[in-house]
Amino acid sequence: MDLELTGKVALITGASKGIGRAVAEQLALEGADVVITARTAEPLERAAREIEAKAKGKGKVVPMTGDMSKAEDVNRCVAAALGRFGRIDILVTCAGSSPGGLLEELTEEQWYSSLNLKFMGYVRSVRAVIPHMRERGDGAIVMVVGNDGLKPSYWEMTAGVANAADINFASSVAEQYGRYGVRINTVNPGPVNTDRWDGLEKALARDKKIDQKQAHELALSSIPFHRICEPAEVASLVTFLASPRAAFINGAHIPIDGAQRKALMDV
Ligand SMILES: NC(=O)c1ccc[n+]([C@@H]2O[C@H](COP(=O)([O-])OP(=O)(O)OC[C@H]3O[C@@H](n4cnc5c(N)ncnc54)[C@H](OP(=O)(O)O)[C@@H]3O)[C@@H](O)[C@H]2O)c1
Repeated sequence: MDLELTGKVALITGASKGIGRAVAEQLALEGADVVITARTAEPLERAAREIEAKAKGKGKVVPMTGDMSKAEDVNRCVAAALGRFGRIDILVTCAGSSPGGLLEELTEEQWYSSLNLKFMGYVRSVRAVIPHMRERGDGAIVMVVGNDGLKPSYWEMTAGVANAADINFASSVAEQYGRYGVRINTVNPGPVNTDRWDGLEKALARDKKIDQKQAHELALSSIPFHRICEPAEVASLVTFLASPRAAFINGAHIPIDGAQRKALMDV
């Protein structure tokens, strides 16, 4: 199936590694030009070079450093992407990192940092592209959120709370901006094989006083496929939702967690 992404321009936040990078790779392979952001320049620039080489000239990949927990950085990246390509057809928000931990140990600062990046970072990104998309009467936004927004678990509650807020926010934006041709959907993975998941497993092991191997086993046992998801599998869903092939999908919150039953991770 031709996803009709050739020549589209995509901005992906948090894309030097993990899910964001996999999304950038698939969009570039489909012929889109891609702007990728992250805070750290070297891995971001390396990712851009590697993705562009893999896409064999199909899509350009432009790295832009920026911290999505700061409004001025988000606005600067959006303005620079518009300056470079003249338009943004697709926004994918991936820059998130919420600490694991238990209610009585989590600090005020940890709660704020989770909400500031995973919720407000996504709000800022959407807010910055919306006027442009509304004016053009076209745009696709995909927020990579997380299944703990739909299926809470007490050991990842800072992420779950931010994710639930993201899902609520996206529903409101879908209703308000659908009339202008702008679509917004959320993708909600369970455990995905990235550095972030590795960090969450370590936190789970610490909080449950088990080792990381046991924490990993708990994750596997909560998923009927007995494996965790790969970044490319999330990227395939995101790429479809970002494409014109998904033209009637708006305000949807799609789990991609292999029917995970989170309660099975509780020991
Ligand atoms: N992996 C999972 O199991 C899982 C499950 C559900 C949902 N998710 C969500 O999916 C998204 C991507 O997760 P991932 O697993 O791919 O994470 P990851 O492998 O840790 O990659 C995170 C990316 O975001 C960038 N980033 C982090 N903080 C940033 C900031 N303040 N501003 C800009 N960029 C920032 C990182 O680069 P720098 O550090 O250089 O900035 C990196 O490129 C996150 O929102 C996460 O919550 C992940």
